[in-house]
Amino acid sequence: MNCETVHVALGARSYDVRIGAGLIETAGQQIAPLLARPRVAVITDETVAGLHLERLREALADQGIAMVSLALPAGESTKSWPHFTRAVEWLLSEKIERQDLLIALGGGVIGDLAGFAAAVLRRGIRFVQIPTSLLAQVDSSVGGKTGINAPQGKNLIGAFHQPALVLADVAALATLPPRDFLAGYGEVVKYGLLGDADFFEWLERNAPALVAGGSALRIEAVRRSVRMKADIVARDETEQGERALLNLGHTFCHALEAATGYSDRLLHGEGVAIGCALAFEVSARLGLCAQEDPSRVRQHLRATGAKTDLGDIPGPLPQADTLIDLMAQDKKVVAGTLRFVMAQGIGRAFVTSEVPREVLREVLTDALAARGR
Ligand code: GLY
Repeated sequence: MNCETVHVALGARSYDVRIGAGLIETAGQQIAPLLARPRVAVITDETVAGLHLERLREALADQGIAMVSLALPAGESTKSWPHFTRAVEWLLSEKIERQDLLIALGGGVIGDLAGFAAAVLRRGIRFVQIPTSLLAQVDSSVGGKTGINAPQGKNLIGAFHQPALVLADVAALATLPPRDFLAGYGEVVKYGLLGDADFFEWLERNAPALVAGGSALRIEAVRRSVRMKADIVARDETEQGERALLNLGHTFCHALEAATGYSDRLLHGEGVAIGCALAFEVSARLGLCAQEDPSRVRQHLRATGAKTDLGDIPGPLPQADTLIDLMAQDKKVVAGTLRFVMAQGIGRAFVTSEVPREVLREVLTDALAARGR
C-alpha cells in the first residue's frame, strides 16, 4: 500500500499522520502499539457508521482488539453540549479508563467533539483521529483543536488536545457526496494560497484528475496540505501568531456562515473557498498583491466546480455592513481589533489588522451586486 507519513513535531505530544488508500483495513496493526489493553471506544456518526464502522471493527478484531462504539447523529448540530454530555457519559458508562484510547471516526464534527471528550475525560485520555472527509483529513484532524459550538458562535468551547495518531484513508473520500468533497477542496487550495505557490500551481495542473478520483493525486494533495499544517502547528501550537495564517478566508467565511444560519446553504469549506477569493480581492484593492491574483484564484476554484463567489450562495444575503458586523464576532478579535489574513501574492499570506472598513465595504458591495448580474 502506498502510505505517506507526516510527523507532527511537538515534543512529548508528537505524532504521525499516515496518509494512504485502505488505511482503515490496517487500523488494528497501526493502533495496537498504542494500547495498554486490547479494547477501544469509537465515536462516529450514523452516516459514517453505515459506511466504515464494520470494516474498522474487523480490522481491530484481526489484531484481537475489542471495540465499543457510539454513533451520534450526522451534522453540525451534534457539536453541542447535549451530544457532548451524551458522549462523555457513554465513555464513563463503558468504563473507559485513563490509559485507554478513543477513536474518532468521521468528519470534522466528530473529530472535534470526540477530541474534546478525550481532552476532558478523566482529565485527558489519548485519542486517534480517523478522518473520513477531505476537510477533516487536511485540516481539522491535525493540530489538536477540539471543541463544540456555543449559542454565541462556532468552536467557542474547547481545548487544545493533540491526537496520538491520525489515519487519513483517502479511499474513504470515494464515499463522499461530490459537494462535500469540493467543500474540503476549499481547504486544500487554502494551503497553496497561504504559503506554497508551487503547490497552488500543482493544484492548477492536477485538480481535474484529483477531483475525478485519482488516488495517488489525492494522497499527494493531502500529504502536502498536512505537511504545511504540521510545520505551522509545530512552530505555533496554540495560535499565538503564525497559526492564524491557517484562517485565510475564514473571517469572511464565518460571517457568511452566520448570515446563512449555519445551514446547508453554505458548507464550511465552501465558505472558506469564497472567503479566500474575497481575501485576495481585498488584498488587491489594498495594493498588497497583483491585480490579476484574485481572478487567478477564482478561475481555479471555478474550474474545479467549487463555490467561488457570493453568487454561488443560494437565497438572500445581508448588506455589506451587516456582513462586516458579523465578522467582528470572529474569535480572531484581539482587544476589540479584528485581524485579517491578507496576501502579498499567491503563497504569501500574512496577518494584519490594517484593513479599512471602507475597503471591505467596497469589495463586499461589488461582490453582492455581481450576484444579480
Ligand atoms: N483550522 C485552523 C487551525 O487548525 O488552526
